Amino acid sequence: MASTGCIVTGGAGFIGCAISKGLIERFGRVVAVDNLHPQVHKTASRPAALAAGVELLRLDITEPATWDAVLAELRPTAIVHLAAETGTGQSLTEATRHAHVNVTGTTVMLDALARHKVVPERILLTSSRAVYGEGAWQDRAAGQTIYPGYRSREQLARGEWDFMGLHALPSSAMETRAMPTNVYGSTKLAQEHILCAWAAAFGTVPTTLRLQNVYGPGQSLSNSYTGIVSLFCRIARAQRSIPLYEDGRMLRDFVLIDDVADALLLALSASAPGNVPLDVGTGVATTIGDIAVHIASLYNAPEPHVCALYRFGDVRHAACTINLTRQMLAWEPRFSVQDGLLRLKGWVDIELAAGGVD
Ligand SMILES: NC(=O)c1ccc[n+]([C@@H]2O[C@H](COP(=O)([O-])OP(=O)(O)OC[C@H]3O[C@@H](n4cnc5c(N)ncnc54)[C@H](O)[C@@H]3O)[C@@H](O)[C@H]2O)c1
Repeated sequence: MASTGCIVTGGAGFIGCAISKGLIERFGRVVAVDNLHPQVHKTASRPAALAAGVELLRLDITEPATWDAVLAELRPTAIVHLAAETGTGQSLTEATRHAHVNVTGTTVMLDALARHKVVPERILLTSSRAVYGEGAWQDRAAGQTIYPGYRSREQLARGEWDFMGLHALPSSAMETRAMPTNVYGSTKLAQEHILCAWAAAFGTVPTTLRLQNVYGPGQSLSNSYTGIVSLFCRIARAQRSIPLYEDGRMLRDFVLIDDVADALLLALSASAPGNVPLDVGTGVATTIGDIAVHIASLYNAPEPHVCALYRFGDVRHAACTINLTRQMLAWEPRFSVQDGLLRLKGWVDIELAAGGVD
């Protein structure tokens, strides 16, 4: 144990904090490399949720000097690569920023590993459902699977939210083509490809988890660009009606952070799943409207309302099948969305009452 070490990039973020205790239990030394990005962190102080024992280095992963300093200190047996710019809508207007951190940040890290002759036994990447874009749809009448690609500006302006005559299919890395509809998704797909190519060349195990919509205690309440569930809680808690984009019937797979943390920690020790990314969700799709109604009822807030606005880059439906992940990781999501929302509400109430929004 004492000779093992783990570097976790973005380790002070939502997911990093959630796995920090588990990492400490698994590795002799854990170093989190995180620049405490102001969009995510209200203050630049160490997050309370980061397990004691994790060494936090406030550094930027896109700087080669970061890696020279970190790798001179620790030759990791594992890297968990979480650091990223994660604004899906924001990535369409701030493409360079997303590409720089997500793509260049990854290559800077890999170049440094090569420069320092460090080949970790495992590199774990958190990719995203965003790589699928609109995903696969089925034309039931014709018995065909179709990739409609993008919803056009004209289609959205007409309020035609779905692809006429087609039914969305849940995504699965084994079957569904990756066709991102926003820059964020494209950078996550690029990360996957870069990591796989590097890992094959240097003889290490790349493990990629494609996460669906993660929510739960610890998600930034101050970052308005991510975390729709936390945002809905804040609106409902203020006794306002939650506005629903499109018609509110978009499907998402909301997965509680505890289940995601379990999957990540299992993925660090599972026998090599190979180059196939693993989908992490609950396997159950819920409409955004239903989530909003549930949250509004938890806060006795007014009913949500459809505002018919829409955002380019958002996909109509996103859900996944998790059979392969269950099998490869011996993992099972434990929380229904109802149980997860109750846990989130408890945390949000304490955080906001205490005035903390980090
Ligand atoms: N939360 C989700 O719903 C979700 C879904 C799919 C994929 N993911 C992926 O999971 C990973 C972690 O997401 P999260 O929800 O914990 O996000 P987060 O924003 O809470 O955490 C990301 C962390 O990275 C840090 N960071 C950003 N830029 C950095 C840089 N240049 N150098 C060093 N640190 C930097 C931030 O300060 C933050 O602490 C990301 O790669 C994201 O793409 C998350």
